[in-house]
Amino acid sequence: MKVSVTGLGYVGLPLACAIAKKTKNLVVGFDLNEEKIDKIRNRECPIDDYQCEQDLKEVVFEVSSNPEILADSDIYIVCVPTPVLDDYTPDLGPVRGATLTISKYLKKGHSVVIESTINPGVCDEVVKPILEENTALKAGVDFDIAHCPERINPGDPKWNVYNIPRNIGSTNQDTTKKLAEFYKSFISAEINEMPDLKTTEATKIIENTFRDINIAFVNELARSFDVLGIDLMTVIKGASNKPFAFLPHYPSCGVGGHCIPVDPYYLIERAKQSGFDHKFLKLAREINNSMPFYTIELLTDALNLYEKPIKNTRIGLLGLSYKANVGDLRESPSLKIQEILLQKGADLIVYDPYFPELSSVKTLDEALQQSFAIILATNHDEFRSINAEKLIKSDVNIVIDGKNFLNKADIQKSGIYYKGIGS
Ligand SMILES: NC(=O)c1ccc[n+]([C@@H]2O[C@H](COP(=O)([O-])OP(=O)(O)OC[C@H]3O[C@@H](n4cnc5c(N)ncnc54)[C@H](O)[C@@H]3O)[C@@H](O)[C@H]2O)c1
Repeated sequence: MKVSVTGLGYVGLPLACAIAKKTKNLVVGFDLNEEKIDKIRNRECPIDDYQCEQDLKEVVFEVSSNPEILADSDIYIVCVPTPVLDDYTPDLGPVRGATLTISKYLKKGHSVVIESTINPGVCDEVVKPILEENTALKAGVDFDIAHCPERINPGDPKWNVYNIPRNIGSTNQDTTKKLAEFYKSFISAEINEMPDLKTTEATKIIENTFRDINIAFVNELARSFDVLGIDLMTVIKGASNKPFAFLPHYPSCGVGGHCIPVDPYYLIERAKQSGFDHKFLKLAREINNSMPFYTIELLTDALNLYEKPIKNTRIGLLGLSYKANVGDLRESPSLKIQEILLQKGADLIVYDPYFPELSSVKTLDEALQQSFAIILATNHDEFRSINAEKLIKSDVNIVIDGKNFLNKADIQKSGIYYKGIGS
């Protein structure tokens, strides 16, 4: 078979590599981003993913920014972004664009598999009409549409494209079975056959919404326990030894990435169109979006003790990525913190080892030495070296630990002001 992957990012590129590595299918990749295509052609991995870096050196597959490369694919897999617009409504532009491109090449017997995260209804209400209206073909009869949502967690040392179980649903059960066999040819984990497209779309959305509301719960607890004088991290540790029905989640300065702070809006919006108001999900989003502002409140309270305003005070922001040990800025709460600090006139020092071009200093030591107060916004391994001794030497007075990552007892014992989120 010829298998094409449209969208060669964090999801599409590892997938294309995996199919090329484990199966005998002819694999091709298409992406609009020419710079990315050039890198992949030169076997340079454009994403932070160790497994993918290794695979890219081993496998052979053609990639192009010219859609002609898609022609005659038996399976067209779509891995394009699904972001939100400024008003937090879903931006299905990339899914529409990729589908329209594929419609130019779609023939009888072909299958289109959407791996992008989408709300229930997108395959039937957006993908299907584009494919049917631009061809003389009928979905479920002449060609099939399937949804096989990706769950990859870039940078995860254990879980990758090869071992994460999947769900798959499509326009007809025979196709679901056939495509499940295809996925089993390169994934050594369960490929669960779902009854239809809508339920498959809903599984992925609830997985990410589950995380968002649980994080919102602990973020709300952090704010409540800060008022009550209870250390939430100690409480979560205590609650976690319950061997059933408790799943620890941790508070922080905000929720980032392309999925958790985005996907709930897809369900909220689609349910709204059908007359249902997702109050709980909206509140969770509101709480999580408020955490960068809360982090600044904690900094303001700390600076008050030194009779200092934020304005013109040297504040070191450590970490721009939305998560540890990867260079990914998408929806990063650090960017919001940076924006607020700049608005308030802080004399800002920024350091992230993954973004030297966005950092104002070259090393962590430099950032510490120049800062009166620091906000740790990303738990990169490099920041683990920050301890009381180093802080005293650098004359740092205040530590706001947005990830509850540093050794609180050690820092507090030294007399330096330390405040975590709920801790
Ligand atoms: N990143 C993750 O951890 C992750 C995990 C699971 C699911 N997802 C979902 O997978 C989807 C893709 O996410 P990603 O992180 O790989 O995004 P990404 O931004 O890393 O990659 C998407 C790629 O698609 C390309 N693209 C955009 N529109 C296109 C078009 N019309 N035709 C061809 N190429 C196009 C972009 O140039 C980009 O290279 C999203 O729906 C996301 O929610 C992401």
